[in-house]
Amino acid sequence: MNKEPIAIIAAQEGELQYLISLLQSKKEKSYGRYIAYEGEIEGYPVIILFTCVGIINAAVATTLLLNNKKVKCVINQGTAGAHKDYLNINDIVIGKECININTYKTKKIEYGMRPEEWEIINFLSGTKDKQIVYKADESLVQIADTIKNEYGTKIIGRLGSGDVWNQEKDRIKWISKVCNTLCEDMESVSIYTICNDMNIPVIGIRIISNNELKNLEFEKSTEINCQKFVYEMIKKIINQGQIKI
Ligand code: 5AD
Repeated sequence: MNKEPIAIIAAQEGELQYLISLLQSKKEKSYGRYIAYEGEIEGYPVIILFTCVGIINAAVATTLLLNNKKVKCVINQGTAGAHKDYLNINDIVIGKECININTYKTKKIEYGMRPEEWEIINFLSGTKDKQIVYKADESLVQIADTIKNEYGTKIIGRLGSGDVWNQEKDRIKWISKVCNTLCEDMESVSIYTICNDMNIPVIGIRIISNNELKNLEFEKSTEINCQKFVYEMIKKIINQGQIKI
């Protein structure tokens, strides 16, 4: 079997600790100012990268890792805020797609601000600006879809991502409508962009830790619950028969 490591990427200590505790023969390695924990889970090489919060950190850390290590696939995991009122704390979003929700062109107006009229658009060099939808690897989506979420439901869809924590209900509903997003976080878009560019299979697994639309505040225990789901995914990827990544 091809024994290139599985890379797990997360932004906060609490989003990594459970998986780090499962690592055998653990070694720490620095990639720039970012730390990765390298070892084995179930006898298979796994690298757990700690990026810190935000799209710039996630982009730099991921690039440094992927420029230095050939990996089998990348799993980005962690918490997210819901963009739908039917999502509850501990529900898991399998990110089949990902979009940058924090890249705008405003209207030309003399006075005042109208955020609901801002166009969410990616600025491209050399070609016409347009909204870009980044893709997860289909096989990884299929694997994630076979795993039971012990703590809530599971839904496949689009992640929204950017350096923004939205708490205005109408704005959350507006973003979800124009971008077709299920939730928001602050790292996925960097990781999807880089992996799509480098042709590396990627998936984002995000657990709902807060839902402003239902006045549900951030729930820290979701961090570990997400890692338990990802642990099951890791085992499936290692033991997969017919599904090829
Ligand atoms: N909006 C944006 N980021 C969120 N996160 C959890 N909930 C939200 C939310 N509602 C995650 C981000 C980041 C940290 C602040 O928490 O991905 O890592």
